[in-house]
Amino acid sequence: MLLHLSTWAEVEDFLKRSKTVVIPIGSNEQHGPTGLLGTDWLCPEIIAHEAQRQGDILVGPTFNVGMAQHHLGFPGTVSLRPSTFILAIGDWVRSLAGHGFDKIYFLNGHGGNVATIEAAFSELYAEASYMGRPRNFSLKLKNWWDLKGVMGLANRQFPTGHGSHATPSEIAVTQWGYPDSIKSANYAPQIAPTGPIRESVDFRARYPDGRMGSDPAQATPEKGGELVKQAAESLLADVADFSNEQAPGLKAAE
Ligand code: NI
Repeated sequence: MLLHLSTWAEVEDFLKRSKTVVIPIGSNEQHGPTGLLGTDWLCPEIIAHEAQRQGDILVGPTFNVGMAQHHLGFPGTVSLRPSTFILAIGDWVRSLAGHGFDKIYFLNGHGGNVATIEAAFSELYAEASYMGRPRNFSLKLKNWWDLKGVMGLANRQFPTGHGSHATPSEIAVTQWGYPDSIKSANYAPQIAPTGPIRESVDFRARYPDGRMGSDPAQATPEKGGELVKQAAESLLADVADFSNEQAPGLKAAE
């Protein structure tokens, strides 16, 4: 079930059978000469939307802008600074928790978001801790490539040139989801360089076409479909585990 295609009454009904919601979260940032700017939010969205076709989960609107300051040297990148991102995640969670969702699962598509999302979770938990009260929600962050079986499959599909940005696995997922938007280019070098991530001018000087360590020419929609199938199946299992998880001795929120 997709929240944005539901009515408030349907969401109210859903809350009678589950208090868990999945939020795809990513970033709108350059992904090399052939990767779509939306890659990092499209991947978790494609996977979560596929999962809700197979199981009874609720998927919320995609949080499609993240912490991507290092990509701002490339046109089309839109970034929140970490402090803004923390505040926005906080209000997103408070909105949903206020309606009774007590398990909020963020399926992430951008490595650069991880530190800030974790900091946002700590800020939210701290609100309860300083009051000495139990919180009325639990939060979980999972990167889609960390879902069970996904990285193993990607390693078998792309034994060399996977890299860490504009990877063939993420580009394959978007090719499966959006076959009319597949791009091509001549990559030089075939496998991009690797190194540190700092500010945007440094990033563009080190990685002139935007890739890091990757050879996205290996991506195909078929490989993307295999990744989506594995990820969607593992997501349903992981969301079920999260829904059932409860601190020993802690009463469920009324
Ligand atoms: Ni990416």
